[in-house]
Amino acid sequence: MLIAQISDLHIQESGKDKELIQAEHHLSTCIQTLNRLAPRPDLVVITGDLTEHGRKQEYLTLKPLLAELNIPYLLIPGNHDSPAMLRDVFHEHAYLQTGSPFIQYVIDDWPLRIVALDTTIPMRSDGGLCAERLQWLSNTLAQAPDTPTLVLMHHPPFETGIKKMDELGLLTGRAAFAEVIAPYGNIERILCGHLHRTMLCRVGPTVASTCPGTAHQITLDLNADAQALSFNFEPPGYQLHWQGAQGLVTHHATIGEFPGPYSF
Ligand SMILES: [Fe+2]
Ligand SMILES: [Fe+2]
Repeated sequence: MLIAQISDLHIQESGKDKELIQAEHHLSTCIQTLNRLAPRPDLVVITGDLTEHGRKQEYLTLKPLLAELNIPYLLIPGNHDSPAMLRDVFHEHAYLQTGSPFIQYVIDDWPLRIVALDTTIPMRSDGGLCAERLQWLSNTLAQAPDTPTLVLMHHPPFETGIKKMDELGLLTGRAAFAEVIAPYGNIERILCGHLHRTMLCRVGPTVASTCPGTAHQITLDLNADAQALSFNFEPPGYQLHWQGAQGLVTHHATIGEFPGPYSF
């Protein structure tokens, strides 16, 4: 199985930095890149911050852009999203209609089981996992303890060293989350967004990773006394998670067209 991951599209209708970031243009370029992939991924997972403000018009702009993707895709919300607007505009994505305030779901259609967790808190940038969501995760993992599983969540369950982003990280439920996943050696990876750059960290029995943004990246600043958060235009990227014989192999790749290939 081959899964592409993209994240943090931040589609916006109007607002600060719209012209600078050009999120729609970058998403189109990303989709063209994914559509050229051979072999074709079985699935694209999009790990949150689909829009900038969670406005209906932003989802209405996003939807036809994603319709250009020649690969099925799954969505999870990020802190910039509105679950209600997401469900409204993407109403045919039945997995979003969870019957709960949280967009948490499991997909058993592929060799890799997909378990999506909702780390968002209404009107807040930081994330959290309450007892209800963690109980759902515990029950869900217990249903298939031997099936290779991917967990999707927007806020990563680890500190990144980027101080101003860690202040907006998964601030509640992180230790309890680690306890819930501790018995499960079948979790191949925890795939996250929010950080707008690639990171890896061991979390319990598995590895958690973050994905670049499709448009703008968070500046790599590991100063413990960093005073401000900033973004830049390092090349946007995506990740390709390839299921090989020994488990999942993650390839980081850059969005765009580049010279080559040249034969050795
Ligand atoms: Fe984001
Ligand atoms: Fe985010």
